[in-house]
Formats: sequence, structure tokens, C-alpha cells
Amino acid sequence: MSDPDVAFAALTPGASIGAGAVLDAVLADAAPAVPGRPRTIGMMVAGVDGHATVDGRSGGLGSPEDRAVFRGMRERVDALLVGPGTLNAERYSTVLDPHQREARVAAGRSAEPPLATITRGLTLDPDLPLLHQSVVDALVYTEADRPFDVGDRVEVVWLPAATPAAALADLHRRGVGTLACEGGPSLLAALVADGLLDELLLTVSPLLVGGVDPLTILAGDIADGPRAVGLRGTWRGGGSLFLHYHLTDRRSP
Ligand SMILES: NC(=O)c1ccc[n+]([C@@H]2O[C@H](COP(=O)([O-])OP(=O)(O)OC[C@H]3O[C@@H](n4cnc5c(N)ncnc54)[C@H](OP(=O)(O)O)[C@@H]3O)[C@@H](O)[C@H]2O)c1
Repeated sequence: MSDPDVAFAALTPGASIGAGAVLDAVLADAAPAVPGRPRTIGMMVAGVDGHATVDGRSGGLGSPEDRAVFRGMRERVDALLVGPGTLNAERYSTVLDPHQREARVAAGRSAEPPLATITRGLTLDPDLPLLHQSVVDALVYTEADRPFDVGDRVEVVWLPAATPAAALADLHRRGVGTLACEGGPSLLAALVADGLLDELLLTVSPLLVGGVDPLTILAGDIADGPRAVGLRGTWRGGGSLFLHYHLTDRRSP
């Protein structure tokens, strides 16, 4: 006989909605605000077997639906946080499409979301194209006391200790209300360990990657783990699942 206390709900296909409606639902369902820092949402993708990369990059796990959700989130948040390991490995661009830039401006935001990174030892490659383009403002939080020669739209913010908490507090002071952290796994694990991640929007891509010792979406001790997360929303787009979680045990900087 089955356990009467255990209940299930089918993830049945319903009327299809766009990525914008998924993101509106996610953004409307905020974890309780924590004073002194932005609402911080992790945006990550993994294969069905948990791998966070294919051949050292996340792009191989992507799909049109996943890209629509990522780019849609960039359109809607006040700023992005991306670790230097990811910026160096992926060398990606966060530049939006013209209609997304227009939507941001119409909503009273800058045309492109500012990009923040935390690099205690300035391990960020100063030649990254992203740091030299003319459209994206970047904030580089560091505790390394040496010059970092980059483009005019990059502000290097020196902190006595370049912790995620100190960076988030500074972003909050600059008016950032909602922050999307696009990884990578080391920086995201640090946010979780320090109680600074509010939510996670995880794409599960319909891929098996295989191999041993995979890089997963968290690389690092998260302290007092395993941690429970609360499932808030589920969507299916193509063969991918989109899972919105709230984290518990969150803290102010
Ligand atoms: N599947 C996905 O969704 C996804 C998303 C993003 C990236 N990735 C993949 O992940 C890989 C990169 O991962 P990663 O973990 O090396 O890069 P990362 O998390 O982007 O950056 C790691 C770096 O962050 C800095 N950092 C600053 N504060 C930190 C702290 N408190 N704790 C730990 N690190 C801190 C460190 O550099 P300093 O020593 O200079 O401080 C560290 O080396 C790439 O292969 C990328 O493709 C996958």
C-alpha cells in the first residue's frame, strides 16, 4: 500500500507561455528580503547527470529556451555578478538585443545591466573583450593592491577584504535591488556558504555528459550542508526543466 502522506503532482504540458512570463513569475515570487544587500538569484544550467560544463564551458548545455531565460533575466535585473573563473573561461558577452535594451530603458534602468565580479587576487584576464567594450559598465571588486589597466567603463573597487558580503553591500549602496549571479560554481558556493544567495533558477538540460569528478553548479564547501531548498516553480521549455528554488538560512552582509 502506498504512503498516504506522500503526494505528487504531474508536470503536465499546459498552455505554452513565453520566457517573459516565466521570468515574471520568478521575479514576482521573491524570497523574503534581507536588509543591506540585493535580492540575489543564482542562474545556472546543468545536465541531467549534474554536470555544469561540457568541455570546460556551460554553452554546450544550452538550448534556445535556456538562452531566452538567461537573456530575459539580464533584461530584468539591476546588475549581474559573474566570477572571474567564468569570465576568463567563457569570455562571453552580456550585451543585450536592441529591443531588450529599449525595454530596460523604458523601465528606468541602464540600457545594459552593469556587470560585477569579485577577484581577490585580480585573476581576471585584463584583456577580456568585455572589459574594453563601450556599452557595459563593470565593477571589479578586489583586495589586490596593484593597478589593473582596463577600459574606461570599468571601475576597480578596492576593499580591505573582497568578500561576497562586502561586494553585495556596495552594490546595495549603489542602488542594485535585484542581482543575478550567473556563476561560476566557486563564487556561487561562496554565496551559499555565506548565506547570501536568496534564490536559484536552475535549468536542467536534457543531456548526459558523463565522466568522473564532474564540476557541478557548486564548487566549494557550503558550510553546514546539505542545505534544504524550497521548490517554488517548475516550467518545461523544449526538453529542459526550469526550477525556481528559495534558499533558507540567508543573512545580511
Ligand atoms: N553551468 C553553469 O551554469 C555555469 C555557470 C558559470 C560557469 N560555469 C563554468 O564554471 C567554470 C568556472 O568555474 P569557477 O568556479 O572556476 O569560476 P568562478 O566561480 O566564476 O570564479 C572563481 C573565482 O572567483 C573568485 N572568488 C572571489 N571570491 C571568492 C570566494 N569567496 N570564494 C571562491 N572564489 C572566489 C576566485 O578568484 P580570486 O582568487 O581572484 O578571488 C576564484 O578563483 C567554467 O568552466 C564555466 O564554464 C558553468
